[in-house]
Amino acid sequence: MAQAAKPVYLIGNWKSHKTLTEAEEFVANYSGTSDHVVAICPPLPFLPRMAELLKDKPLLKLGSQDVSQYPYGAYTGEVAIEMIKDFASFVIVGHSERRRYFNETNAAVAAKARQVIDAGLTPIVCVDEPYLESQLAYFEKNEFERMIIAYEPLSAIGSGKPDSPEEADAMAQKIIQLAAADVPVLYGGSVTAENIASFTACSNISGALVGGASLEVDSWTALVSKVS
Ligand code: PGA
Repeated sequence: MAQAAKPVYLIGNWKSHKTLTEAEEFVANYSGTSDHVVAICPPLPFLPRMAELLKDKPLLKLGSQDVSQYPYGAYTGEVAIEMIKDFASFVIVGHSERRRYFNETNAAVAAKARQVIDAGLTPIVCVDEPYLESQLAYFEKNEFERMIIAYEPLSAIGSGKPDSPEEADAMAQKIIQLAAADVPVLYGGSVTAENIASFTACSNISGALVGGASLEVDSWTALVSKVS
């Protein structure tokens, strides 16, 4: 019997870009179709409006760029998973920018991932070299089975210098071995419409986490169309 094709995830991370009007325009102009899982992660305050606009475009899913490590409570300024879960399918946790600029620790990232899993959403846990093993050590097998991991080498993010597909594939294989679970591993770092297919063709890579190339509807549509 033929093996079912692995699902491919194409996740756009808008980071701290766009006004609400620009986000609305993106959705209005997006008409991409795909057999794969395609999602964008807009800034948090836009999630409810994006969810409303995307009701008739189920092929474009939503994710959050972050979440609180705490549930509802006296945590001023935090956004708890309960506030996100009706609007998003995915939550990025531990992006290297969160780790670097907001001092997120491995323990905090793991606590966030657990909030997401417990709420029934899928965390996209970002990891990088040379900290990979210590970052993964915070999770159990049953948690790996409910998450996606994004491997994002620091030198490749926003630099226009992606990892080679061979290196990224070898890292994805290492992550799957360390996790000892069938966890989807995405590659992230300077992914574009021009290079996406070389990553998704790798046997250990299940898609991409995309920053810059997800910002414009044309570049995002082109990227999505390259993955058949
Ligand atoms: P980039 O960002 O695609 O702009 O390199 C990737 C990321 O930070 O997830």
